[in-house]
Amino acid sequence: MSEVISFINEKGGVGKSTSAITIAQILAISGYNVLLIDLDPQMNTTKMFGQTDEVLDINYEHLFCTKQLRKSSVLEFISSTDYKNISILSASRELSTLVYTIYDRSKEAGGTNIELYLRHNLSLIKDDFDYIIIDNSPFKSYLTTCAICASDKIVTPICVDNFSYDGLMSLFDTIEDLNSKYSLAIEFAGIFMTRVAGRTTLYKQMFESYENMFGEKFLPVSIRNCIAVSESNTTFEPLLTYDKRCTAAQDYIELVNYLGLMDNKHYRELAKYLKGER
Ligand SMILES: Nc1ncnc2c1ncn2[C@@H]1O[C@H](COP(=O)(O)OP(=O)(O)O)[C@@H](O)[C@H]1O
Ligand SMILES: [Mg+2]
Repeated sequence: MSEVISFINEKGGVGKSTSAITIAQILAISGYNVLLIDLDPQMNTTKMFGQTDEVLDINYEHLFCTKQLRKSSVLEFISSTDYKNISILSASRELSTLVYTIYDRSKEAGGTNIELYLRHNLSLIKDDFDYIIIDNSPFKSYLTTCAICASDKIVTPICVDNFSYDGLMSLFDTIEDLNSKYSLAIEFAGIFMTRVAGRTTLYKQMFESYENMFGEKFLPVSIRNCIAVSESNTTFEPLLTYDKRCTAAQDYIELVNYLGLMDNKHYRELAKYLKGER
């Protein structure tokens, strides 16, 4: 049974894609079978794994607006990657128009809750993966609502440079509304800071003020600003392949542990990899 985790923040450039990819990679290296779903038409995650929209002809409508009956019809959307234990459901530019299609289909269907179809379709493949990680687009849309409905946990990266309190409050409301509307148990697993410039006075002040604002929801693990992250984006290599010992990789490992995503057996595998020469 897989656990579905969505990275969501309606701001762009806060580290959603970096977090989704890096956490997926850490889990995959540790031996978990991971599916990454890219729902951002900007396709950052898709490009990282070498898939481009020239070769992709994905009928997303089947995934979002039709209740599939067979596992095989959902698996058709998924490709393997060059990285062990990482599969991908790629994004394409067509995702930007899908939002309108979902809206139209919902209206046509009257009271039917198309928002839940992605959840249903992913549930057919739940036994094939330990984790399903969804990288979302920064826009608040039906697509994000479908992703929230399909998720067990929501995690939000925030960045001091581009922070919206109202955006976060509206995300909490959306989760609460969907939980009560559909009797779901989607959990908000926490907020963490990304791209922090070390232990500066500003960082400490912001850390404290976020802690006051969000209490327990604010996670005590932050991801440091790290040149290897932008370099790995430039070379299209996931972070740990580029530099498994960089500060951001260390911080993401701490975050994975804090979120309780890894047991001892898998952590031992990860430790072996980290100690290795390559
Ligand atoms: N810890 C970090 N250190 C340095 N640069 C980072 C870090 N996290 C993200 N970035 C850079 O910030 C930009 C936005 O990150 P990204 O993960 O694409 O955000 P989002 O998906 O929220 O738009 C990218 O260029 C990425 O390389
Ligand atoms: Mg992104």
